[in-house]
Order: sequence, then structure tokens, then C-alpha cells
Amino acid sequence: MSRTGLWDSHAHLDSDYFTDDREELISKLQQDLDGIVNPGCDEATSAFAVELAEKYDFIYAAVGWHPEELKGIPADYLDKLAAWAVHPKVVAIGEVGLDYYWKENEPKEVQKRIFLEQIDLAKQFDLPVIIHDRDAHGDMLEIFQKEVSGVRAVFHCFSGSLEMAKELVKRGYYFGFGGTSTYKNAQKVREVMSYIPRELLLFETDSPYLTPVPYRGKRNNPGYLELTARNAAEVLGVPFEELAEQTTKNVKALFTKIK
Ligand code: NI
Repeated sequence: MSRTGLWDSHAHLDSDYFTDDREELISKLQQDLDGIVNPGCDEATSAFAVELAEKYDFIYAAVGWHPEELKGIPADYLDKLAAWAVHPKVVAIGEVGLDYYWKENEPKEVQKRIFLEQIDLAKQFDLPVIIHDRDAHGDMLEIFQKEVSGVRAVFHCFSGSLEMAKELVKRGYYFGFGGTSTYKNAQKVREVMSYIPRELLLFETDSPYLTPVPYRGKRNNPGYLELTARNAAEVLGVPFEELAEQTTKNVKALFTKIK
């Protein structure tokens, strides 16, 4: 693959799925992509994300506690986040949010409290928030309609309705689209993607998950981002290069520490 001019706004290169070939993969990705944002999901993965960002120029980190990782969250987790937040390559708080899909996750009230605390911290450090929303669209929308304002955020791998998207667009939030937007049955996702103003659009892989067509079912990696972006260019009727350039601008507008 040649240089794409793309940014993967969401990839978990810290994942165990990359244990065997991480370095080799990253040196290849350095040829293809302009940059990668690697969000953490708990203490260990956030620390690993920061480590990768320190090691590789084109990788940036986000730090946070994912809603699936709240059991046993340290009492001083906000202090840990605050310590990371001032690092020059920590560009966001995330991924954080609500996940009502897994029954073993912490109760909704606990998830909401920790989510809101992390948003407050992001505001305090003028960092954007990378948001995970799975089967929690109603509560998520309510939070951004009634409780939260004055923060930059991206709804990663957005799976909400067009109506929800319209409310979030009004408030200037960003939307990440990944492999799911290439799936045959994902007409709804493509409809939403077509509605989003170009200046609020980001691409992502969510590697190692959600692999785009034609590699669906295999391990995802940021090298497959181009498949998602080319598919989106076709869906939106925009030249690929134009979309790459616009989404790169968007990454820098959202993650303002990236120059
Ligand atoms: Ni993710």
C-alpha cells in the first residue's frame, strides 16, 4: 500500500492481538498513514498507549476507563488521568462512555457517574473526549442535551440513529466511522455518514476489531483504514484524496495537541 494521507483516529495497537508482530506492523503503518490515535481502556492499556506514543512519532495516545473496565477502578483514577493529561502526546480522554450491551458491566448509574467525571477532567485540561456508546443511545443523547456542554468529543464508531446524529451535529460533535460502514447490511450507518457535515467526519479502524470488507472476521489493523475511507468516498461521491485531506484537518481540529 502507498501513502494514503489518512489518520486512524481510533486503534488499539496495545491489544494482545498485536503481541507477535506489533513492531513490524507499526513500521509498515508508518509508510501508509499520517498518524494514529491509540485510546486506552483502563490503567494498563492507557499506560501502554502512552508508551507507544513516546516510542513512535506518528502515534498519539488517549487515556481513560472504558465502561467495560470499571470493576476495580482505582479510587484515585482521576489523579492518574490528570497526570497523563499533561503529557504532550496524550491528545484526548478515552475511550470512555456507556455500554449497556454486556450484562456484567457496572450498573448504569455507576457508568454514568464515571463517564461524567472523565468528561469534567477532559474539560479541565482542554482535551477532547473519545466516546464509546453501545446500546445506550437514549441516555447518551440525554447527557449531551442536558448535562454536558463546552467539551469537544468524537462519537467513535457511531451506531446511533439519524435523529440522534442530527442533535449531536447541532452541537458540533465529531463522528468516527470504521469497518462497520462497509458491511452490506449497514445501510443505516451509511445513511448517517452521508448526513454528517464533512468537517465533523473522522475515519477509524477500532483495530483489532470491526474489520472492513473484504477482510471481515479477520484481525483488523490500521492498514485497512484505506478500505473504509475509499468506501466512504464512493458512498459520499467525493474524491478519495479530498476526503483524506478533509478528515486529516478534522483530526487536528478535534485533537488540538496534534500539529
Ligand atoms: Ni475502541
